[in-house]
Amino acid sequence: MSKNADLHKRRIAAIPRGVGNSLAVYAERAQNAELWDVEGRRYVDFASGIAVVNTGHLHPQVKAAMAAQLEKLTHGCFQVTPYESYIALAEALNARAPGPTPKKTIFLSTGAEAVENAIKIARYATRRSAVIAFTGGFHGRTLACIALTGKVQPYKAGFGPMLPEVFHVPFPMAFHGVTAADSLAAIDNLFKADVDPARVAAIIIEPVQGEGGFYIAPPEFLRSLRTLCDKHGILLIADEIQTGFSRTGKTFAIEHAGVEPDLMTVAKSIAGGVPLSAVIGKAEIMDAPVVGGLGGTFAGSPLACAAGLAVLEVIDRENLNQRSEQLGAKLASRLRQMQAKFPSIGEVRALGMMVAIELVKNRRADSPDADLTKAVVQAAAKRGLVILACGMYGNVIRFLAPLTISDPLLKEGMNLFEQALADAVQGVPNVGLQGAGDAGRGAG
Ligand SMILES: Cc1ncc(COP(=O)(O)O)c(C=O)c1O
Repeated sequence: MSKNADLHKRRIAAIPRGVGNSLAVYAERAQNAELWDVEGRRYVDFASGIAVVNTGHLHPQVKAAMAAQLEKLTHGCFQVTPYESYIALAEALNARAPGPTPKKTIFLSTGAEAVENAIKIARYATRRSAVIAFTGGFHGRTLACIALTGKVQPYKAGFGPMLPEVFHVPFPMAFHGVTAADSLAAIDNLFKADVDPARVAAIIIEPVQGEGGFYIAPPEFLRSLRTLCDKHGILLIADEIQTGFSRTGKTFAIEHAGVEPDLMTVAKSIAGGVPLSAVIGKAEIMDAPVVGGLGGTFAGSPLACAAGLAVLEVIDRENLNQRSEQLGAKLASRLRQMQAKFPSIGEVRALGMMVAIELVKNRRADSPDADLTKAVVQAAAKRGLVILACGMYGNVIRFLAPLTISDPLLKEGMNLFEQALADAVQGVPNVGLQGAGDAGRGAG
């Protein structure tokens, strides 16, 4: 039995099936945008562990910062014996957060934990309880987060009851005929039919939906939400967990709309692969909860903060916002060329290097092709490319290569992708090990 097959057998026996696997390719090591499995096979990595290594796997500067920190302190617990790197990283994020209002930052460990804390802070600051979220949105797998997440399968069904007073409205999706005006009308209707706006603590939105399918909220829609929130005293929370840290060509995606959110949740690429998340928000709002009401044992560990500071330096030094724009433009243009060849590509969406294609049958937006999407992910792995699917209907391929990827490697990955798409369209069977199952859908 091959090493991958052996590990997969052990995985099935030891680990619950609820943790999905996109591929049965077991990673051994990675460097920048390349990854090697336990059998020594090389892959181009267009997944970045779901948008976690925007600065590439083991960036030398991030690695050096972590190594230096390992000689000094790995755990102090900020609530017990605080340390400077937590403060320094908070200062750096406060300075980078959009808008002129003074900011404060709290660190947590996972994206879901950041979202939970943002909701707690919003409730405390407003003394209101309801939250509005969007259909197709993804905010994490903890109990409050699954209520906010706008997708029943696999996140909510069987895990109820949900947190009460969470309302969903449609996210603008031009490809599916949902306009910004439709979404705003739905909120208006919600205020008439379901909830008094004076009870609503927050509206939480991903400026570009991640797991939901890389739908880009129109800038004017985000501006309208800002106005609506101001009118009703509602806090606007931008969930930047997947979109943050230069993924879309700006440090935070909401900057494209020129909107200052009240609170922002960040995680994933914040620390180059070390678990770290944060809520960044307007200082007065962040200061609302009582002393002791926020925190966590591992939250903002010295190792994670050291990595986070190095990540910000890399973003600046390597001009990753600009690089993200360049890479995204190249990738999107290549995908648009492919669209002319492959009618299955219904739409190409790109904001910076947050790029996706939606696969459909018969060129129809209302005929999602989830089977083809699954087949493409498996075919890509067979050819040596790691990609992920996503989307409400499981028919979106997302491209999340590190922003530090070289031009030749991007090209190699795109060539592999085109071959994989051709394989899948022609129905080339995906024999071998890659068939673990959910194609990255439900990954996060
Ligand atoms: C937009 C968004 N919010 C929240 C989360 C949850 O983050 P985590 O998986 O770190 O809990 C994710 C994860 O994919 C995400 O993309």
